[in-house]
Amino acid sequence: MSHTIVIFGASGDLTSRKLVPALYSLKRAGELPADTRIVGFSRTQMSDDAWRGALRDTTAKHADAFDEQAWQEFANAIHYQPGDIGNTADFMALKQRLETLESGRETTRVYYLATAPQFYGPVVARLGELGMADEANGPRRIVVEKPFGTDLASARHLNAELHAVFTERQVYRIDHYLGKESVQNMLALRFANTIFEPIWNRRYIDHVQITVAEEVPVGRRGAYYDGSGVLRDMFQNHLLQLLMVTAMEAPVKFNADAVRNEKVKVLDAVRPLDLEHVAAAGVRGQYEGYLDEPGVPATSQTATFGAIRLEIDSWRWQGVPFYLRSGKAMSCRTTQIVIAFRQPPLELFGGDHRGHREANRLVVQIQPAEGIQLHFHTKVPGEGMRLRLTDLEFSYSREFAGRLPEAYEPLLLDVMTGDASLFARSDEVEKSWEIIDPFVRAWASPDMPRIPTYERGFWGPMASVSWMEGQGRTWFDQCPVLT
Ligand code: BG6
Repeated sequence: MSHTIVIFGASGDLTSRKLVPALYSLKRAGELPADTRIVGFSRTQMSDDAWRGALRDTTAKHADAFDEQAWQEFANAIHYQPGDIGNTADFMALKQRLETLESGRETTRVYYLATAPQFYGPVVARLGELGMADEANGPRRIVVEKPFGTDLASARHLNAELHAVFTERQVYRIDHYLGKESVQNMLALRFANTIFEPIWNRRYIDHVQITVAEEVPVGRRGAYYDGSGVLRDMFQNHLLQLLMVTAMEAPVKFNADAVRNEKVKVLDAVRPLDLEHVAAAGVRGQYEGYLDEPGVPATSQTATFGAIRLEIDSWRWQGVPFYLRSGKAMSCRTTQIVIAFRQPPLELFGGDHRGHREANRLVVQIQPAEGIQLHFHTKVPGEGMRLRLTDLEFSYSREFAGRLPEAYEPLLLDVMTGDASLFARSDEVEKSWEIIDPFVRAWASPDMPRIPTYERGFWGPMASVSWMEGQGRTWFDQCPVLT
């Protein structure tokens, strides 16, 4: 079967930084299906060769390895069609070009929406008008980038626009976090082993912390970011995805429907919060200097840091809080899921100097290095029962030679082969917004006190530390446990 990937928004950042380098790396690794072509569509007037030349430079910069000969082979399959999304004639020209390139062969065609979000609806409508979702000559699939709406109402609207042209089976809502090896490994850890399942519940787990900390500030993305803030930018998608893979039940089969059914059940079980309680269920913050970033209004109250507490009302998780936290300009770049276990029922050996001892933890580190650490106590050799927290460690890079694929690589392959397990379904996206919307509304309310600030390079505002301590817990504030 032949494959065509049509990229709308071809001259944008996502295409040059992520999509084309990922496709090139797949080609280099011999994993890109033979007879695959890439067709870019955007307003900039350019020839095929001009686009190839521009992509060569950006791919050399962004792919993790580059070799000229492999690029030349790959570049032959790159084509460019200038056009305006608002112009039917331009779309007809695109349609014709695709048909010429595919020359009647049965082809899996993937439409990739890498444009600004306001163009998603118009592109989908045009594809519909011209019958380009029709599958008579091979599968037709559409990939929708984030943000998928800005709240529940707009997500529903976008789903309706998509469903007017494509069936749900044809739609792939991408969240690049699901392409990360360690996120997928969470499924392997939980469902390919028997030793974790018996303790993966309220009897043994005190709480769960999911942290996505970024060292970088907002920088040049101020104009976009200020309208979005950390809740929309990171929580509705990436953090809730991490929550789902941590909390879901084992699916009965490993296929898209079974996996996504279990994920959606987690969101269904998240306890809804009314406006009155939502403010106390989280802490927000803004890093010092955010107001000076280009594109950010001087009076902005947008949160660049957030921490929220969610409760999952299920037999497995009743009474186990899930703390989700993310921020820009924090101490370091680290994404980790910390399973914090309960204390043993009896303290036989006395606590530390403060009279307590840290409980066991399982830390799944997703980036920058990927791996797992299990923290447990051992006796310090010598006299008496002095204990110390030690660890068992698994590191991807030590265990497996070779490079780890970039998140977009497996995801693009999945779209081409028609596996939607690692993509969000329409109900999943809508339920995610249902959970996050109340926080967005509460934090934007004029009744909220002024947003607390935090020093760059810190773990958020002091309020986050005291909020956690007020619940008898402490954040696991360690820069990557694996390097
Ligand atoms: C994006 C957000 O979705 O994810 C960015 O818009 C954020 O603000 C990025 O920096 C983080 O992705 P990663 O893979 O670097 O953790």
